[in-house]
Amino acid sequence: MNDHFPPEAVFRTSQLEENDGPGHNPTENPTMGEIIASRFSRRGFLKGSLAVSAIAATVSPLALITADNARAASGSAFNFDEIEAGIDEKHHVAAGYDADVLLRWGDPLFADAPEFDPKNQSAEAQAKQFGYNNDYVGFIPLEGSSEHGLLVVNHEYTNEHLMFPGIVTVAEGKIKVADADQKRVDIEMAAHGGTIVEIKKEGGKWQVVRDGKLNRRITSTTEMQLSGPVAGHDRVKTSADATGTKVFGTFNNCAGGVTPWGTYVMAEENIHGYFAGELPADHKEAANYKRMGIPEGTYQWANFYDRFDVSKEPNEANRFGWIVEVDVNDPNSLPKKRTAMGRFKHEGAESIVAKDGQVVFYLGDDERFDYVYKFVTAGKFNPDDRAANLDLLDEGTLYVAKFADDGSFEWLPVVFGQGPLTAENGFASQADVLIETRRAGDLLGATKMDRPEDIQPNAVNGKVYVMLTNNTKRKADQVDAANPRAENAFGHLIELVEEGGDFAATKGKWEVLLKCGDPSVAEVGASFSTATTANGWFGMPDNCAVDADGRLWVATDGNSPKATGRTDGIWAVDTEGEARATSKLFFRVPVGAEMCGPLLAPDMQSMFVAVQHPGDGGEDWEGFGRPSYYEDLSTRWPDFKDDMPVRPAVVAITKQGGGKIAV
Ligand code: FEO
Ligand code: CA
Ligand code: CA
Repeated sequence: MNDHFPPEAVFRTSQLEENDGPGHNPTENPTMGEIIASRFSRRGFLKGSLAVSAIAATVSPLALITADNARAASGSAFNFDEIEAGIDEKHHVAAGYDADVLLRWGDPLFADAPEFDPKNQSAEAQAKQFGYNNDYVGFIPLEGSSEHGLLVVNHEYTNEHLMFPGIVTVAEGKIKVADADQKRVDIEMAAHGGTIVEIKKEGGKWQVVRDGKLNRRITSTTEMQLSGPVAGHDRVKTSADATGTKVFGTFNNCAGGVTPWGTYVMAEENIHGYFAGELPADHKEAANYKRMGIPEGTYQWANFYDRFDVSKEPNEANRFGWIVEVDVNDPNSLPKKRTAMGRFKHEGAESIVAKDGQVVFYLGDDERFDYVYKFVTAGKFNPDDRAANLDLLDEGTLYVAKFADDGSFEWLPVVFGQGPLTAENGFASQADVLIETRRAGDLLGATKMDRPEDIQPNAVNGKVYVMLTNNTKRKADQVDAANPRAENAFGHLIELVEEGGDFAATKGKWEVLLKCGDPSVAEVGASFSTATTANGWFGMPDNCAVDADGRLWVATDGNSPKATGRTDGIWAVDTEGEARATSKLFFRVPVGAEMCGPLLAPDMQSMFVAVQHPGDGGEDWEGFGRPSYYEDLSTRWPDFKDDMPVRPAVVAITKQGGGKIAV
């Protein structure tokens, strides 16, 4: 989710990122981001991407290096001619590749699903159509094929001002989104969650199999089960569920993962925005909810459903903030909230099988000054018996990371009875520890990070990459080696090496792989290699992927005309040899969009990327051929073009004539 909305806007969803962690800096001092942003004035970028190059060339010798020369000089693992960074209403991919829209918000997913009609939306229709704001994208091969499989996609959140005609008004320069009625709330709830859809490559082009037997929509009302140590605990019982096991729905599913046994895991992230109401200050859940920013009330679901009002149903919010596992082989299976993996603002859940067969999941808690976690299953992965793996996520050890300035780190067990996680600190069981995972991390002395996003293990080189997107609230006296910049506007990447190359190890070494931002501006302190061109640097790393050759691809959220003079995109980042920390731009999104996905099929011949909220915001991109958000939807989208993601969309990238990507 981005946080670069125009300041005068009264957006509901923009508030979701405004929940400040324990390090909240109450001052209004200008941040490094704002100082740097002044370089990228809107005026300078109205001329388009040429203006970006012109500005960069005047200040940076890096701009004089062409992409081809850079590659030849650096020994990059990536072979493509990078595109120009810039800003316009279209998406762009490197020459020699096709980037075809595969699925858009509202596309029918079942034989009996209605066609998308933005002026006649309903919850029933939405529940049979592709949801909104696609974030995580996974591919589960069918019968081992890289050309036929299930695409699994998270629908993180909804942007009402972009979805519903006629609900935005402008008065005295202020933009206001109308309050929701129940019909709108029901559509919002149906637009959240996830999609499982069969796709097939035919004649070199990907197609959706609309009547695929395994196609499924998961929404904010789908029945699911709480499983693991918290299931049945008093703190997750509600008036509708005396068992403390039966939950309806999932929402704000950001990144996620596909397990080695072929299930789909969805990370529940910014759950605080869906709850409203007030808890008395002395309520037993008050401190727990405060640490999670609950209730925040961005959405108006509580006006129609009591369970989202904490004053009426004080335990419901303890049933969200988990990792949800879905068995995609059975469209009627109950998704399971795997409570052993902790409760926080889960970003993703990428996994790898460790040396002895245990499975390790890397988990980020996306909040300023929150933590990096991993979960190690107690049981071992059985590659010959899928069913034997289906409850592996109910038992295991959750760890939180502590980074030392000497380049070592420790994984601290988040286990009841160990260290400070005892009755003395208010924990009576592992269930208590898991419900309040953040407080457990606080007590353990975990390292406060600059917003941990996606974390990706690399099976080829044995390393792990941590995306830390930004943290402008970090003050100079809060800097440490793992979070080395105050007012960190552009984020950084950390590389972990687990001890003995064992992903299940409890300690290891770390180093900063890359400090992001414009390397030509000394104050930014970016650390891209000198082979990185003026197009190749980026800010705000978010989602990421490692391909079958072990190469790292980074997607960004927050690049914009004001922040970095470029839209978000997919950057190929070298991690090895003399090319280490060289980055090249492969794909970029239309203005206003955030870049999600990415995912390469096992044969590396297809990349799937997710374009979230294209056209969001306003003043930054007015004049680029796209009407702004406060116009009626019917004028905004007079026709729907298949060649451009005017709605949140998954785009399939293939090489013209076939072949592996960037090889
Ligand atoms: Fe939904 Fe942390 O991004
Ligand atoms: Ca994210
Ligand atoms: Ca990922």
